[in-house]
Amino acid sequence: MNELDLFGNTTEGARAAGPLGSRFIFPPFTVLRGDSDTWLSRKAHWLGMGIKSEVSREDVKTYSVPGYMQKSEATVSVFDPCLAEVAYRWFCPTGGQVVDPFAGGSVRGIVASFLGLPYWGCDLREEQVQANREQAAELCTPGLPTPVWVTGDALVVLDQAPEADLLFSCPPYGDLEVYSEDGADLSTMPHEQFLEVYAAIIKKAVGKLRVGGMAAWVVGEFRDKRTGAYREFVPDTVAAFTLAGLQYWNEVTYMTPVGTLAMRTSAKFETNRKLGKNHQNMLVFTKGRPMVAGIPVSTTTPMGGKEE
Ligand SMILES: C[S@@+](CC[C@H](N)C(=O)[O-])C[C@H]1O[C@@H](n2cnc3c(N)ncnc32)[C@H](O)[C@@H]1O
Repeated sequence: MNELDLFGNTTEGARAAGPLGSRFIFPPFTVLRGDSDTWLSRKAHWLGMGIKSEVSREDVKTYSVPGYMQKSEATVSVFDPCLAEVAYRWFCPTGGQVVDPFAGGSVRGIVASFLGLPYWGCDLREEQVQANREQAAELCTPGLPTPVWVTGDALVVLDQAPEADLLFSCPPYGDLEVYSEDGADLSTMPHEQFLEVYAAIIKKAVGKLRVGGMAAWVVGEFRDKRTGAYREFVPDTVAAFTLAGLQYWNEVTYMTPVGTLAMRTSAKFETNRKLGKNHQNMLVFTKGRPMVAGIPVSTTTPMGGKEE
């Protein structure tokens, strides 16, 4: 039974199953219900393949995990494979090249491979890159493109990246999680320097994007540890892309499962009116008019052939 919302509209369950849902997996609306049953069951299929994006990340220093990721059993965060699938199907042409300047774990590369997309990602941490290659060797299907991961500072190694049809990434959210002690690691930098280098990496990545290509960038607000105020990371990201010459095309709110947030919110809200954050943003940009031919739902996935 579907419930009605405050305005008398049926809630998400009904919409997700509708014709838009079957054509595009999920309805192409600006709110993605990453907390819905349909989303979670699809995500479980992907994770059931054995993706372990958290491999090698035991050393990550703080675990104030961005809400777009879900904590695995222990201490580490995993990118949502459904979010990767949506970005690829909606914003990348069939067979298009994906470039990911802050690769982190293996998820985005492995999902790209399953959808027939060549993927190139770089990350500063050699151990992460090695773990990703091992995951790909184990999980990717022969005959489909093998993801490529390169170790190094995005500012430098993006020079080696192929021309891209889609830029897809999830950058460090300032110092929210600290990934290493490397001076080139964005998460170690004072905020002003972080913004400067972050914008320079975006500019370089945009230089790799073909005309008609798009960028889908997963970000979320985070707080200044001293004042508690938001850092305005979302508008800073929009500014970096538009300054680099792209058009701001879609702003997506990606809702995350509430999970332990319910327990964690009470004290914070009572003492300082900080709301429990159960969403992230996927900011989408385009270089000129977007190429519209997306990846059909019939493409092979762990769900096996055509679903719905
Ligand atoms: C938000 S994390 C990515 C997390 C990823 N979504 C995942 O699922 O693991 C950002 C990544 O950026 C990397 N990184 C930080 N500074 C970098 C730089 N200058 N060049 C390339 N990678 C960098 C970190 O090592 C980290 O893996």
